[in-house]
Formats: sequence, C-alpha cells, structure tokens
Amino acid sequence: MPQGSTGKATDIAHRIWTELQRATVDRHHEWRTPVLATTGLDGLPQARTVVLRAADPQTSQLVFFTDRRSPKVAELRALPAAAFVFWSKRLNWQLRVRVATQVHTEGPLVEAAWARVSQSAAAGDYLAPHAPGSALNNPIDHTPTSHHLAVVTAHIDHMDWLELARAGHRRARLAPGTITWLVP
Ligand SMILES: Cc1cc2nc3c(=O)[nH]c(=O)nc-3n(C[C@H](O)[C@H](O)[C@H](O)COP(=O)(O)O)c2cc1C
Repeated sequence: MPQGSTGKATDIAHRIWTELQRATVDRHHEWRTPVLATTGLDGLPQARTVVLRAADPQTSQLVFFTDRRSPKVAELRALPAAAFVFWSKRLNWQLRVRVATQVHTEGPLVEAAWARVSQSAAAGDYLAPHAPGSALNNPIDHTPTSHHLAVVTAHIDHMDWLELARAGHRRARLAPGTITWLVP
C-alpha cells in the first residue's frame, strides 16, 4: 500500500470516525465500551472499560464520563497521557488511540453531561456517597445532595488502526490529516 495516499487516508479516517460516532448512540456497537489505559500513581499500568460518550472529528476528541473521586481521575491529573483500545469483531478492526486528557468537574460541559446522565439509570453511580473503590464497610451515612460527575475530554494525538482480513491484514497510523501504512 503506498504511503501518503491521501484518498485512502480520507476514506479510512472517515470510516473510523463514522464507527466511533455510531458507538456513542448505539448501545450494541462494540466500540461503545473501549478499554482506557492509564499510568497508575505507582507508575504501573492500569486499564478499565469505559463508555464512549462522544466522538468529534472536528476537534479530534473523544469523551467519557466518570466519578471525579475515582482513581483514574487522580491518575489522569498526574499524567494526562492515556490510550483507548477498541475492538470490533463485526468490523474485524482494532483501534488504539493515544490521547491527551483533560478532566472537567465544573462548567457548562459538566452541567450538560449531568442533564443527560441524571435522566438515566446511571445517575446513581455519580450520587453514591463513597468514592468508587472505597471499602464497602463504610455505612451509607447521608442522602446524596450533589453529584460527582466528571467529564473527561481526550484529544487524539494519533490512532493505530488494524484490520484483520483473510486477503491480508492492513495497519495504518493516522494522525490528523496524515496516514502512514504499517506492516501489520
Ligand atoms: C461495560 C462497562 C462500562 C463502564 N463504563 C464506565 C464509565 O463510562 N466510566 C467509569 O468511570 N467507569 C466505567 N466502568 C467501570 C470501570 O471499568 C471501573 O471499574 C471503575 O470506573 C473504576 O476504575 P478506576 O479504579 O480505574 O478509576 C464501566 C465498566 C464496565 C464493565
């Protein structure tokens, strides 16, 4: 596959963004629940599943929601670099995305997110009186009055796309506006 083939680059980037955007609205899309990898406060790897809430090709951003008290928030504040891994059996596509994250705990972004989440079954997750991961022997001692929702925006540095196919696997590194074909 030739390098710098811009027609193909546009095509593949467009197809990837279409799938990412579908995943934010389709509960059954396999890309709805990527794995988010971070560096733990001890310097060792950490990874967990999150729900993809938004994907914007214009700003090259992915978004997920979390509890501001969760360990991942402390990790991202200490080291904002992170990676998402998506896999779809239907597409036979793996997508590894390197991002620089920003944690938002107040402002219009969080208010809009809370307006959305508070209508859903997930609202309770962000009203729990104790932080995720805290020991369960703490009695629940008060009725929640405020939420702990944080919005994490993740600006894409580059993506590593791998397509598995009988005719031959394909792999490419995509940075905004460029594609480099790689040996799978
Ligand atoms: C299908 C699925 C979706 C999840 N979505 C989220 C999510 O959107 N945000 C989140 O903070 N945790 C989500 N979780 C829980 C995380 O995987 C994790 O257990 C929790 O956030 C604590 O992670 P941490 O200790 O690394 O902060 C999800 C778990 C599963 C199984």
